Amino acid sequence: MSNTTKRVFSFLLCLALFLSLSAAPATFTKPVRLRAASRPPARGQHGMVSSVSEIASQVGVDVLKRGGNAIDAAVAVGLALAVVWPSAGNLGGGGFMVIRLANGKATAIDYREMGPAAAHRNVYLDSKGEYIKESSTYGHKAAGVPGTVAGLSYALEKYGKLKWADVAEPSRKLAAEGFPVWHQLERSLKGASNGLSRYPETKRIFLRNGKPYEAGEIFKQPELAAVFARMIKEGPGEFYHGKTAQLIEAAMRRAANGGKPWMTVEDLKNYKPVEREPLRTTYRGHEIITMPPPSSGGVALIEMLNILERYDLKALGAGSSQEAHLKVEAMRRAFADRAEFLGDPDFVKVPVAGLTSRGYADKVAATIDPQRASTSEAVGHGDPAAYMSLKESEETTHFTVVDKDGNVVSNTYTLNDSYGNKITVEGAGFLLNNEMDDFAPQPGKPNFYGLIQGEANAVAARKRPLSSMTPTIVLKEGKLWFAVGSPGGPTIINTVLQVLINVIDHGMDIQRAIDWPRIHHQWMPDQITYEPYGLSPDVLNRLKEMGHKFVDRPRNMGDAEGIMIEDKTGVRLGGRDPRLDGHSVGY
Ligand code: GLY
Repeated sequence: MSNTTKRVFSFLLCLALFLSLSAAPATFTKPVRLRAASRPPARGQHGMVSSVSEIASQVGVDVLKRGGNAIDAAVAVGLALAVVWPSAGNLGGGGFMVIRLANGKATAIDYREMGPAAAHRNVYLDSKGEYIKESSTYGHKAAGVPGTVAGLSYALEKYGKLKWADVAEPSRKLAAEGFPVWHQLERSLKGASNGLSRYPETKRIFLRNGKPYEAGEIFKQPELAAVFARMIKEGPGEFYHGKTAQLIEAAMRRAANGGKPWMTVEDLKNYKPVEREPLRTTYRGHEIITMPPPSSGGVALIEMLNILERYDLKALGAGSSQEAHLKVEAMRRAFADRAEFLGDPDFVKVPVAGLTSRGYADKVAATIDPQRASTSEAVGHGDPAAYMSLKESEETTHFTVVDKDGNVVSNTYTLNDSYGNKITVEGAGFLLNNEMDDFAPQPGKPNFYGLIQGEANAVAARKRPLSSMTPTIVLKEGKLWFAVGSPGGPTIINTVLQVLINVIDHGMDIQRAIDWPRIHHQWMPDQITYEPYGLSPDVLNRLKEMGHKFVDRPRNMGDAEGIMIEDKTGVRLGGRDPRLDGHSVGY
């Protein structure tokens, strides 16, 4: 290169550098699409399934490719997770499904467990009225009547296109032939080994009698495969009145309950899922469709969105101390109301219209000091009754499915605690839930999640325990925009809230919105839970100066699995939670 060429070259280089630097501030004056560091979402032209397990997501996509719709695929995923993710995927538990069909109809299926006939208000209390340790968390008496098989088969029958046998067969095969244990499953099984070792059948199946599975080893479940085979041959009702029901009753005879089984075939025969009208609201003009009671999730979510809508969260900035403060104050108030008012609507009057009205949110928001933390002791619940006539508009698992036509399913289901009550039904190979602990076993005292709950959620026969599960769907201009949900006990509601705010207020895509660190406050105990590296020291200190208290150790919360529709292309974007290494599979 000649000297002249070198000089021209370096002049051009300097000019380019100068122009790029001087142009830089101008880019901030125009609206720019911010792209924070995060994986891109998974992409699918036609359909997408997001769940905690790659195997289960693939089962769902295979069903979509075979011509099934989102409901067929969701049922197949739910059954597959019962095989490959036994900590929360289940036949022995229950959950909630929110569906929106491409024609605009939306519905909610409640397949929550129910208290058996033997349940009553004081069943977990001793003669002095004190809670009997672990009575609602471990062992036979912790189990409610399972709703999963009834709920999934109801959804399939009413809204699916395929037959039960078509969607159940992949799970039978997975259980019979086995599947390779993956890293998170190995960790989960080993992490739960103390609890799982309490019961010989559970230890035999899930811990291989004390020699836990390593990643890559094949895990076969022949007893579970036989349950699927019977349900395929005789129909899903087999679970409730066939040999499987008898095996459940036989297992229950081992529960100390004055010689009577804690749960009977009669309880199982009486179980019915309930189709309910979903809750709806708008947040900054976008329609939100979510789960009504007996989940508290939708009511609390809407109360918090109504409170937060009055603040310019976008201007405050994602991750700012001011945004965190306002979110926490909204959480504190919604959880105080949850504790007082929420329960099974078939048993108690839940003031849903009041709690979800904007007038009530005005009144509640007026008690928030933008600069100072409230104390939970002083906050207490509100009085939604006056707004009733205002007609305004640790472990669980969630999966979301969107099909080629735009039908969407947002489903959260659970055994409650990881691996439920740790009891495996002998001869049937599946675990039972400990959902009875989601009742208030001793109203006014904290449960497993530290949640305080009132008489509205007291134990009763044939009643459904209050839940926090919040499967949710969001529309933009009347069309599906995104859908999401999460496990995490009470943190579920706040996880879903924060994903919604991240997308709607801060403009994040579904993957970034899910990746973003979360905070949680549930009124009592009066403390903020946060995630490792989730709050910078400056933000943490500023919040402490405002009067907020924090847990000693941060921890991860939730496992949100979502799907978003890309604006211009209609491509299905899968957002999978890195916290449990979720998988979105599209096609
Ligand atoms: N078992 C957790 C919930 O239903 O909220």
